[in-house]
Amino acid sequence: MKSTIQEIIGQRYSCRSYLDEPIREMHRQSLKDFLETQQIGPLGTHARFELVAATQDDRQSLKGLGTYGFIKNPTGFIIGALEQGPKNLEDYGYLLEHAILAATDIGLGTCWLGGTFTKSRFAKKISLRDTETIPAVVATGYIVEKIGRDGQIRKYLSANRRLPKEQLFKIDTFGSPLTTEAAGAYAELLEMVRWAPSASNKQPWRIVRIGDTWHFYLQRTKGYGKGTLLFSVLRLADLQRVDMGIAMCHFELTARALGLNGHWANKDPQIKTPENTEYIVTWLNE
Ligand SMILES: Cc1cc2nc3c(=O)[nH]c(=O)nc-3n(C[C@H](O)[C@H](O)[C@H](O)COP(=O)(O)O)c2cc1C
Repeated sequence: MKSTIQEIIGQRYSCRSYLDEPIREMHRQSLKDFLETQQIGPLGTHARFELVAATQDDRQSLKGLGTYGFIKNPTGFIIGALEQGPKNLEDYGYLLEHAILAATDIGLGTCWLGGTFTKSRFAKKISLRDTETIPAVVATGYIVEKIGRDGQIRKYLSANRRLPKEQLFKIDTFGSPLTTEAAGAYAELLEMVRWAPSASNKQPWRIVRIGDTWHFYLQRTKGYGKGTLLFSVLRLADLQRVDMGIAMCHFELTARALGLNGHWANKDPQIKTPENTEYIVTWLNE
């Protein structure tokens, strides 16, 4: 990567207006090479990703697939095919966010799109197998700079804002916010998690520090996502689990850059959780 991971995370935002200009060969090749490396998630699920050029028909089909927000002139899509598995959506979020950060580093704009792609034209492009699904895709292309982070949809989503860190990060129990002092060397890393993208900017990630372990929880947004009428009618994937994988990606890449090594494990500390909150995974410091 050319820039530091902190710089790349700072540059990334959901770009919804692209220049009507194909992705240059050099950038296309670089992204394709990166996608080749994204084959297995940190929690063990296999996936494969492809960069495809966007046609007019692809662009028009997006609305009917349950995505929100108008995406103007995407020139390419990163499509992923995901195998089944207990933590497959988290792995998908992790792998595809890693690809987004690589795309950001070479100057491309990106936007996650959650939708019903599994039986769409996008499935044909990646020759989707029976055992695979496409929980989301990513639009990409060159950024229209003058619109940048100011669009109407961004205002609607409060996309330039995040929840306060006290609400997201805790120590020992859900009742005790993690102070900057108690976060220590991890304060900067948690800030990188805070700026992660999430479906409808709901930011469902919660992290509880207990000694040298960081426990990741999904706090489901009431009236949104899995189990709601909207999600079942549109047959959308459980996108808040994809959000969890995205947060894991920001956490791990920043941890490694800061020399704070560790690994993922299934180590539920069995602490009392608030309503609608489920344990996902733990990062163990090494
Ligand atoms: C899983 C997922 C699905 C998303 N789906 C859409 C979508 O369908 N349409 C859209 O315009 N943005 C979509 N987004 C982008 C979010 O709205 C965006 O990440 C959030 O508002 C925060 O803004 P930022 O990415 O610019 O920081 C999605 C993001 C994620 C992580």
